[in-house]
Amino acid sequence: YNNGMGERPPMGWQTWCSVGECGEDHCFDGQIRAMADTLVLSGMKDLGYDWVVLDDCWHPTRDNATAELVPYPRFFPDGMKPVIDYVHSLGLKFGLYTSVGDRTCHGGWSPGSFGHYERDARTFAAWGVDYVKIDYCGSHDSVEGHRNMSRALNATGRPMSYMLCRGPYQQQDHWGYAPGIAQGWRATGDHHDNFASVRQQVEAVRGKASWSGPFGWAYLDMMMTGGQGCKDQCVGPESDQGHCNWTKPEHCPGMSEEEYRTEASLYVVVSSPLMVGTDIRLMTPIMKELLLNKEAIAINQDYKAVPGDAMPSCHGSSQEAWVRRLSNGDSAVALTNWGNHTASLAVCLDAIGWTHGETAGARNVWARQSLGTFSRRFEAKVRAHDTLLLLLSRTGAAGSPENKVAVAM
Ligand code: DGJ
Repeated sequence: YNNGMGERPPMGWQTWCSVGECGEDHCFDGQIRAMADTLVLSGMKDLGYDWVVLDDCWHPTRDNATAELVPYPRFFPDGMKPVIDYVHSLGLKFGLYTSVGDRTCHGGWSPGSFGHYERDARTFAAWGVDYVKIDYCGSHDSVEGHRNMSRALNATGRPMSYMLCRGPYQQQDHWGYAPGIAQGWRATGDHHDNFASVRQQVEAVRGKASWSGPFGWAYLDMMMTGGQGCKDQCVGPESDQGHCNWTKPEHCPGMSEEEYRTEASLYVVVSSPLMVGTDIRLMTPIMKELLLNKEAIAINQDYKAVPGDAMPSCHGSSQEAWVRRLSNGDSAVALTNWGNHTASLAVCLDAIGWTHGETAGARNVWARQSLGTFSRRFEAKVRAHDTLLLLLSRTGAAGSPENKVAVAM
């Protein structure tokens, strides 16, 4: 839904994973400012990461007299507005969390927006909020609530990105009612710091690529990226409400560098919003490799192109790749090795929609390395759980080597 926000998939940093969750080390004024500073100082802002989003647990109650949401005084002693003003002063935008039901998800003590949609929309607008993440928790969580909150936000006159987080649209064709009311909607449940979860996140958009685009993006949950402070793991089945038993993961970070590379590659190719969930103040080498790569970001942000989807990577082969045709005719191809041993993975130009006889220049996006040109078929060895993210650019005429076997990985 075009309200002027979300032409491109948002990129930024979001609480919930990295600086503690409810009941212990809340996100607080100083941390939000520090993360905003880091977006600027690390160069992330210049690359397009311009959102700071505060997730659940920022508010315990409403004001008795006005019903306005009240942030924790201990963590936001001057209220919300000064923090938001500070974020804006750095040229960044600010997002805030609520729930469509009468409680938020974690612990269930924070008030949700049910019964107060107009009131809360006015509050958010008055504070200068630019993005509202709306969770699906508490009693009275409903589609009607999703619609009413959308109307209430639009009625404020302040353009705000409205980001649904779970709801019946996830099971519906073309994401159901979501594109008609929101600028973004979560495709799936929560992401956790393990490889199975990466696969689960991306599978949620399989076959649905063409259903999101400018002013309406299906999004995968915050990225784990390999940083400090990975979030607690949900033990046992997660309920529809997002409740579960949370425990600290045994290993943190919970994935290998190869697995984080796969996570980033797939988020890039399916054009998911890139919201980093880990502590960007302590960037590890793998975080730098994956978050600060201009070419990868350009693939993700090519909003005029249809988001990538899975397809057989060569005709007659059982292997598949996640592929995105870019608006200039190039292709981004994620060759993921889901298996537990190094494997040879291939991509064939005709299988991914190139015209017979075309020649492609191949580039390893993460290594920032050219891999030469080829026509027809490209093959590479990829380590277990790793992804070779290829950018195939059109070089025009045929006549280059037919096949290329790379052993780059
Ligand atoms: C469930 C959501 O899916 C998460 O992203 C997070 O917002 C939590 N709720 C907060 O309680």
